[in-house]
Amino acid sequence: MPAKTEKKLADLFHDGLRDIYYAERKLLKALPKMARGAESPDLKAAFEKHRDETEGHVDRLQQVFEIFGKRAQGKNCPAIDGIVEEGEEILDEFKGSRALDAGLIAAAQAAEHYEITRYGTLKRWARELGMDDAARLLDQTLGEEAKTDEALSRLAETAANQKAA
Ligand SMILES: [Fe+2]
Repeated sequence: MPAKTEKKLADLFHDGLRDIYYAERKLLKALPKMARGAESPDLKAAFEKHRDETEGHVDRLQQVFEIFGKRAQGKNCPAIDGIVEEGEEILDEFKGSRALDAGLIAAAQAAEHYEITRYGTLKRWARELGMDDAARLLDQTLGEEAKTDEALSRLAETAANQKAA
């Protein structure tokens, strides 16, 4: 471990990679619970689809670790722990209510937005570190997170929010 003053962009990149690796694997476990809890078949399907995509995200991250020359290893991410915990609270506290799906969508979008900010930064850092292949992999996942976020917004606007109101 280098002295603190010697830490560089590559160290930030490694840290961020471990953080999002942990987050993706956490979401892999959380999404089936969200799918089971969701009332609308469309929302269930959206969560299931994103669970499958998330497997691909984990896979891409393993490739990025390889390009970077480091072992794929997560690092506790209290931010995603908190976001997932809030989703579980919604599942618990709004179960059986007409507002459940609107709440689940909001919780899921919090996770997507977290991922979007992380992937955006990591992609930029990968480029600056001269790892264009890694940047491309990160960008592919970023695109899928953004699409998921849009799909969730549509489900909120076309159904869940009216039902909750
Ligand atoms: Fe993801």
